[in-house]
Amino acid sequence: MQPIGFFDSGVGGITVLREVRRLLPEEDLLYLADQARCPYGPRPSDELRAIAAACAGWLIEHGAKMVVVACNTASAAALADLRRRFPDTPFVGMVPPVKPAVAHTRSGVVGVLATPATLAGDLLRDVIDHWANGARIVPQACPGLVERIEEGAFDSPETVALLRRYVAPLLDAGADTIVLGCTHYPLLLPQLRALIGNDIRLLDAAPAVAQRVAQVLRECGLTRPPTGTPGSVTYATTGDPARLADLIDRLDLPRGGVVAAAGASAFRKA
Ligand code: DGL
Repeated sequence: MQPIGFFDSGVGGITVLREVRRLLPEEDLLYLADQARCPYGPRPSDELRAIAAACAGWLIEHGAKMVVVACNTASAAALADLRRRFPDTPFVGMVPPVKPAVAHTRSGVVGVLATPATLAGDLLRDVIDHWANGARIVPQACPGLVERIEEGAFDSPETVALLRRYVAPLLDAGADTIVLGCTHYPLLLPQLRALIGNDIRLLDAAPAVAQRVAQVLRECGLTRPPTGTPGSVTYATTGDPARLADLIDRLDLPRGGVVAAAGASAFRKA
């Protein structure tokens, strides 16, 4: 059967795959981790559009019936362009979940942790324009965090210091709700909780994105007919498969085969 495709700069988008797996366990899933070009966050949008087109093209060549852009940064820069380039493939993208955050906040202050490219993009600006509804939205770019996660340095003093530096301005501003605007950040949930306690709400878009994936599959008639057996999970990386397998294991993410992405050299030239 044709898989649902996902891509991200690394392990982050697996937080989205994990939710899709929970909701649609019979679907086959194919995940491309573009670790050779991680991080995406500091890259200019024209470069991100070329990278996203290469990743989506690879997934479609490998049979994906739908592509989930499991990355806020790539969605911000490239989602509209991907839909134009691949008109026969449905795309589901990510945007920091500002709307539910505004619904939850009591202090009227919402923090958004994201990469520089996500904060600079139109998608987030549009969502804030539409949904802020008088709430104060405090954006915080988090350079360096994705790299620490990809290194597996979840608890290192440097990672904790970075988190503290990025969260402090949000707490100082009075935020009671913090949006995780990068699919890597839910992987630091225990470390974030240790810093901020349990009273601040942390919002991750992945469960809502999984619902959206199910809805789009239904609308397009692409849902896998019931089989009673779990679908397969396959990971491909433009980086080192052994390193990706180790991260998946350490983070207790859905298990699956891990392979080198065939054609990875073409990616590296982009
Ligand atoms: N997981 C990507 C996102 O959601 C990380 C981007 C990066 O590689 O900097 O934005």
